[in-house]
Amino acid sequence: MSKIIAGNFKSNLTRTKIQEYYQILDSKIMPNDEVFLFPPFFALQQSQKFQIGAQNAYPANNGAFTGEITLEALKDLNINTLLIGHSERRTLLGENQEFCAQKFNFFKTQDFSIFYCIGENLEVRQKGFEMTKKFLAAQLQGIDTNYPNLILAYEPIWAIGTGKSASLEEIEEVHAFLKTLCPAKILYGGSVQKNNLTEILKLPNVDGALIGSASLDIYNFIDMITLARELS
Ligand code: PGA
Repeated sequence: MSKIIAGNFKSNLTRTKIQEYYQILDSKIMPNDEVFLFPPFFALQQSQKFQIGAQNAYPANNGAFTGEITLEALKDLNINTLLIGHSERRTLLGENQEFCAQKFNFFKTQDFSIFYCIGENLEVRQKGFEMTKKFLAAQLQGIDTNYPNLILAYEPIWAIGTGKSASLEEIEEVHAFLKTLCPAKILYGGSVQKNNLTEILKLPNVDGALIGSASLDIYNFIDMITLARELS
């Protein structure tokens, strides 16, 4: 089975650059590749060969939610994939667990594919694995872990954007634990790059990778898709 390769652009790149990116990706992708991209809102559109999802959405059909995008707009763009719970939204934008669960439940009723992110900060990690497990389990509170369109992403905050991913042992230990809580596919995220992708994807409980910085260069991202393809 193909490993999932997902790119999260965050608030990077421009509409023009992303259009070029889509064109190049479209010409390189193979039928069995499982590729997802999460661009900023202004580049949301349908694609035949890879999936495009939103980095965020407000749990409502439409309404007075300044700065947010809602279901009606996503449907019009044929977008039915959504990232929820990314640590940057939890920490920088103050999204608490209750709100993440509210979003999850709203978009679940709309049959969205939901990439749901969880991950501990360094302070929690330093308190040991038992505390880390407790923390991660709490981030699943209010989430239907049996939802068939759920893809979980484990992203330790201390490994995001730092250039230092979690070790293979740390990743496998957490993923094995998460598999006891949730039958969904589980991606690892946090400083995944070309030079560590293969060994991470080879771990038994890792079903793919969620890639931030290393997804911004199209040729680098294509190389990573190729590495994932070689494992399938
Ligand atoms: P990174 O980001 O690959 O730049 O560490 C991962 C993420 O936040 O999804």
